[in-house]
Amino acid sequence: MKKSIYTLLVLLFVVSCQKTVDLDNDKEEFINDLISKMTLAEKAGQMNQYNGFWDATGPMPEGDYQKKRYNELKNGQVGSMLNVIGVDEIRALQKIAVEETRLGIPLIFGHDVIHGYKTIFPIPLAESSSWDLDLMEKSARVAATEASADGLNWTFAPMVDISRDARWGRVMEGAGEDPYLGSLVAKARVHGFQGDNLNDINTIVACAKHFAGYGFSEAGRDYNTTDFNQYTLHNTIMPPFKAAVDAGVRTFMNSFNTLDEIPATGHKHIQRDILKRDWSFDGFIVSDWGSIDQMIPHGFARDGKHAAELAVLAGSDMDMESSLYVSQLVGLVESGNIAEELLNDAVRRILRVKYELGLFEDPYKYCNKERSDSELASEENMSVALDAAKKSIVLLKNNNQLLPLQKEGEKIAIIGPLANDKNSPLGNWRSQAVYNSASSVVEGMKKYKGNRTVFEKGVDLYYGKTNFHNRVKINYDDKSDFGKAKFAAATSDIVVMVLGEEGNQSGEGRSRTNIGLPGLQLELLKEISKINNNIVLVVMSGRPLDLSWEDENIPAIVQAWHLGSKSGDAIAQVLYGDYNPSGKLTMSFPRNVGQVPVYYNFKNTGRPSTSIEQVTNSGYADVENSPLYSFGHGLSYTNFSYSNFSVDSDKLGFDSKINVSVKLENTGFYKGKEVVQLYIRDIVGSIARPMKELKGFKIVELAPGESEIINFEIDSSLLEFYTYNNKWEAEVGKFHVFIGGDSNVTEFKEFYLD
Ligand code: NOJ
Repeated sequence: MKKSIYTLLVLLFVVSCQKTVDLDNDKEEFINDLISKMTLAEKAGQMNQYNGFWDATGPMPEGDYQKKRYNELKNGQVGSMLNVIGVDEIRALQKIAVEETRLGIPLIFGHDVIHGYKTIFPIPLAESSSWDLDLMEKSARVAATEASADGLNWTFAPMVDISRDARWGRVMEGAGEDPYLGSLVAKARVHGFQGDNLNDINTIVACAKHFAGYGFSEAGRDYNTTDFNQYTLHNTIMPPFKAAVDAGVRTFMNSFNTLDEIPATGHKHIQRDILKRDWSFDGFIVSDWGSIDQMIPHGFARDGKHAAELAVLAGSDMDMESSLYVSQLVGLVESGNIAEELLNDAVRRILRVKYELGLFEDPYKYCNKERSDSELASEENMSVALDAAKKSIVLLKNNNQLLPLQKEGEKIAIIGPLANDKNSPLGNWRSQAVYNSASSVVEGMKKYKGNRTVFEKGVDLYYGKTNFHNRVKINYDDKSDFGKAKFAAATSDIVVMVLGEEGNQSGEGRSRTNIGLPGLQLELLKEISKINNNIVLVVMSGRPLDLSWEDENIPAIVQAWHLGSKSGDAIAQVLYGDYNPSGKLTMSFPRNVGQVPVYYNFKNTGRPSTSIEQVTNSGYADVENSPLYSFGHGLSYTNFSYSNFSVDSDKLGFDSKINVSVKLENTGFYKGKEVVQLYIRDIVGSIARPMKELKGFKIVELAPGESEIINFEIDSSLLEFYTYNNKWEAEVGKFHVFIGGDSNVTEFKEFYLD
């Protein structure tokens, strides 16, 4: 039987070489033929995904659970596996699928390659702060190259969830709060992973996740319920998913949350109507881990059988780790609860992606030991990681031009528990990174030999070894090293304090209600600032933190996220001015946690607040409405001035364009890059419209004294949104356009769409 598949394939390829044929037809014909040979159990098996459950290169599995899965694997009841690592392991499992199952259908191997495989890049939120789409594509390409060299062919990335809530630990994994930028980043990352041709040896299948609304988990609590209206769904949450489809993403993952009170995994409207019908997505949807089973505690499914039925009806094609498709689908079809055609449709989608990867031609194509030995964490890949790390750093504040540091002469105390931490900077989804393999700030700064540096950690942030599965144990009591740090500060010219979150304090299941510096770090900072306030605070974190006290009291603040393998080198190069920081925030930093969710594209309300003193307006009695650091904010060692802002016409037709321009000048003393941002406000709409929406940006590099005219074209497509008519369209009326270096820009020009 297996032979017949390969004979058919060879035939198809011979035919395709001889004359012009429709390859898509060949693919579909091949898949339909294969489906016609499959039993119901084999179809359910293709829809089943298991986590790696035993060392496939070692002895036979023991234990009932493992044995059961092993038998299923041999019987063709597993279509995919996740978290199987390394060429040998993957080859061994693939061999079972290809040689021991009746039809020999190869497995597809998935893994969370989120911000690098062995070479670790900045966490995605950090990398989005570079606004550099080519860079994001490149880092995804490097990750794909490494993962595919190590046997994998599918990543569960990019996460394209928009989120406005810094309490939610998974903000580290996305591109921030803006749907326009988020869409461009989604496209870049999908293309980075998948390349132009999935059949290429160094590309892997991407997965847009989590569909949908996961980033709106109430109160930032992971896995929680969501509550938003259909306009938020279409105008804010969906655009990056749609962009991923337009970029050709081949898989989607649904999400743990409910939306419209329905678990996303069982949500027919978003999966079948929107994604598969309206957007013509013909790849497949994998559930999130156990999310089919979790429809039971959600109170949506009665039992496993019901959950499997609801998930299939809703369009979830592959079951990640619920084991329910494999145990329930045959019965559900036989009893008439589910039409077999629904299984055929799901299987067709899965086989299509396997076919596109070239797995039917060569199931072992990613299992090349030589490649995995030579391509992982190469010097070349590490240099991309360094570039990405530098570009992801955001200079939040720089009073008195404390930065850049002088290269000679000054005595610098490097203080803080994260300054010599070689593990935290690897971030949360560090895949195959070697423990403690990031460069630390202390190491990076020591390379600048002209300076005298001393290091004192001052305090421990956490106890023990941290990992993905357990909570980080924070130190709340032991201040015994405060004294040494104070002495170092007292005897130095400058203090560089490296504080923030441990790498596993953000990410999945890492929600926090207090988003200040954890543990005793703020107390240490306060003590040090009393002794020597020439402080440069370097903040490592996987989310926007509450930095209000720091902003008021510390002269220079650098947001350094979790920057990956080359973290310390990148930070040192920025501190010493070898790289002039150019990052801009893609997520607002709140003044305190009570302001969350806080985001730049808010609605005006009927009673907009202009001052804290106003009582019956939409504001707070204790802080302003604006965030501490807004979306788009980020300083440079040089200064940029904007002038001559103009629009060439104040009338825009549905078929015409207008041009807006501004003169950007580098008025400082360093060469630098500016992210010039275009925002538009739709003054009156059929639904209330945001105060501003990002609609374009350009990264411009200028030498001191140099200037450039920056132009943006506006046409009506840029003004479209999901209107009260339930359609994407632009509405006639008045608009304001702004160009500036962050979302706080106030000067605008007016135009009309007519
Ligand atoms: C659960 C996470 O939500 C998802 O993003 C991830 O891909 C899967 N686990 C697999 O690890």
